[in-house]
Amino acid sequence: MSANAGFLVGCAFWFLAYGSSWVAAEELGHQQAKVVKPAIDRATPAAPQSSNPTASQDPPGSGLSLFLSNGCGACHTIRGTEARGTIGPDLSHVGSRTAIGAGVLPNTEEAFARFVARPDLLKPGVKMPAFDMLPQTEIETIARYLKALQ
Ligand code: HEC
Repeated sequence: MSANAGFLVGCAFWFLAYGSSWVAAEELGHQQAKVVKPAIDRATPAAPQSSNPTASQDPPGSGLSLFLSNGCGACHTIRGTEARGTIGPDLSHVGSRTAIGAGVLPNTEEAFARFVARPDLLKPGVKMPAFDMLPQTEIETIARYLKALQ
């Protein structure tokens, strides 16, 4: 018994003397590992990211181009694009919502088109301007793009 107790006390002293610095060194190693990892991630070629619903290519006339060129991005954010507005809701995953326009419309391409053209008709007092001055084909392209933002 007393031999065991002496052993334990010895261990405790050893730990106090050397153990804590060993633990500190271990932790430092972990921290360094954490610091190094993102650098490696950044160096790897950009892979498609799930947090970025819009592919990098957006040819003129595409849904994203029309979205940006018509100023939608001044009020709405779509992550991974230049659209960083905060007045309207974040549309990064709007296509996967169950309803849009705060619940007044089903989540369909047709509903997106109607909402974008005349949001005031669907939601009285809405703070989004009407876009029915755009050609219907452009509204439909934008609607298709929004529906695809899952
Ligand atoms: C002046 C700011 C403004 C601009 C510009 C604007 N919006 Fe909006 N938008 C809003 C606001 C505010 C809402 C929230 C409406 C509500 O539900 O009360 C909204 C809602 C929406 C919704 C419904 C989102 C949801 O969560 O249900 C869609 C879709 C949408 N906008 C698309 C567009 C598109 C496409 C354009 C460009 C053609 C555009 N918006 C331009 C302010 C704007």
